[in-house]
Amino acid sequence: MDLQVLVSALREDLRGFTMASITEALGPVGMAGVEREQRLPALTAISAAPSRIGYLASFFMLGGSLTREQFAEAFQSLSYEEALEHGLVDEHGRSTIALRPVAVPDRHGGGELLIASDLGPLQGHAPETNHVMPVGGATLTLAGLTRYDEGQSVLDLGTGCGFHAILAARAGARVVATDVSQRALDFTRFNAALAGVSVDLRLGSLFDPVPERFDRIVSNPPFVMTPPRVREQIGTFEYRDGGGTGDSLLQAILAGLGDHLADDGLAWILGNWHIAAGVGDVEFDRAWREPIARWLGDRRAWVVLREALDPAEYANMWLRESQLTGAAFDSAFATWLSVADMNSSVAFAYLTIGGAEGPQRLEEYRGPIAETFVDATWEGVGRAGMTDDELLASHLVANGVQEKRLHTAGQPDPWHISLLSHGREIPVTAEVAGFVGACDGDLSAGQIIGAIATLVDVDEEELVGQVLPYVRDLIGAGLLAVNG
Ligand SMILES: C[S@@+](CC[C@H](N)C(=O)[O-])C[C@H]1O[C@@H](n2cnc3c(N)ncnc32)[C@H](O)[C@@H]1O
Repeated sequence: MDLQVLVSALREDLRGFTMASITEALGPVGMAGVEREQRLPALTAISAAPSRIGYLASFFMLGGSLTREQFAEAFQSLSYEEALEHGLVDEHGRSTIALRPVAVPDRHGGGELLIASDLGPLQGHAPETNHVMPVGGATLTLAGLTRYDEGQSVLDLGTGCGFHAILAARAGARVVATDVSQRALDFTRFNAALAGVSVDLRLGSLFDPVPERFDRIVSNPPFVMTPPRVREQIGTFEYRDGGGTGDSLLQAILAGLGDHLADDGLAWILGNWHIAAGVGDVEFDRAWREPIARWLGDRRAWVVLREALDPAEYANMWLRESQLTGAAFDSAFATWLSVADMNSSVAFAYLTIGGAEGPQRLEEYRGPIAETFVDATWEGVGRAGMTDDELLASHLVANGVQEKRLHTAGQPDPWHISLLSHGREIPVTAEVAGFVGACDGDLSAGQIIGAIATLVDVDEEELVGQVLPYVRDLIGAGLLAVNG
């Protein structure tokens, strides 16, 4: 049975296997268990009220085994023998892969995609070193930043189960997906076939298999900085340990953009890097920016620092993710800490990078990365690079901005003013709040500052010097848009 025949049968059988129907079959307690990566509550719900969708969920999501009769009820096109022949079911009636519907971000048209990956904790399996991971939270947040158009050339570097590649192909882009893992490319081939799209699959490390340039590059690379001595102890996990040491993998990907990203191109990359300061140090603010700014050079870029962890938090997170417990955990944890710099921390960030030179915005932002403000911010990052004269001549519009003022009871003047929009809260002065309040696109920025200077009787040039850095920041964050 070839792949196309198998996929056609599965597409038929998986009709209606959606998040809504699974939620109904598993019930709220079962679904809550699934969120915690516990399968027993869901399996209990399914055996109490068996259904076709329940059997499919048990088989593909929960590591459950199906009898031949149950299999025949769940799958009407694919026979048990065909599934055996294709290696989809083992001798105990269990699935050899995990498969579930994944919600597609609105930016990519919404709906759901069926995505297969290796068996993992929810199916009762600890990840092996060649594990092909499912679509996770980081994958989805990264997808929420990306956008692809028809005819574009797109590279998904380290494609894994192929989610980004499939989104790009659905948009009509020509997609190359690379991975060092043949197993990952096999999953991508299968998932692309299930989604009804085609992707050019290439085996190899980083940019080795791609001599060409691309309009868009997306990568959720294996960025985890597991020390070599820990890898000797617990193994090198292909999906997360990129080899090399420290943050060399992220550096190599950023360096490779020069030869592989078109001048008017865009790249979206996730990564960890080493910060030469602890999370609470006074130096932290400068230290987290320093390496990434150096690697980015002059490129237009928007860097969102999502998290900074101390060495113990970082080691704990990744050792737990490997399902290590007890003495094995303690031993690997001790090795990791023995080689860690306890005065340092690890950055985790989302990077949006342009193919050409341009302004940069490096910000710490922990809130949700709303799909709706991504484009406004990228546009703003470019605009914030205007000269002072260009800024003063521009007509600005406040982009859904809310103002927050905090007063001490009985005091007329606020002690705190901030502007809120696009998920951010930016503290400002009263003059800046007044300026933004007047930004309806009618007067130029210079005219508004002139009017405020007259009103509050201050020197106009001084006010320009005070207000413009805030204006630049608000434009960069997408709170102020340049009209026209
Ligand atoms: C964190 S997973 C990301 C998978 C998928 N792109 C996603 O966003 O969910 C990283 C992927 O990179 C692959 N990989 C590891 N080392 C690589 C390398 N040197 N070059 C290209 N891909 C690599 C792994 O096999 C894995 O599939």
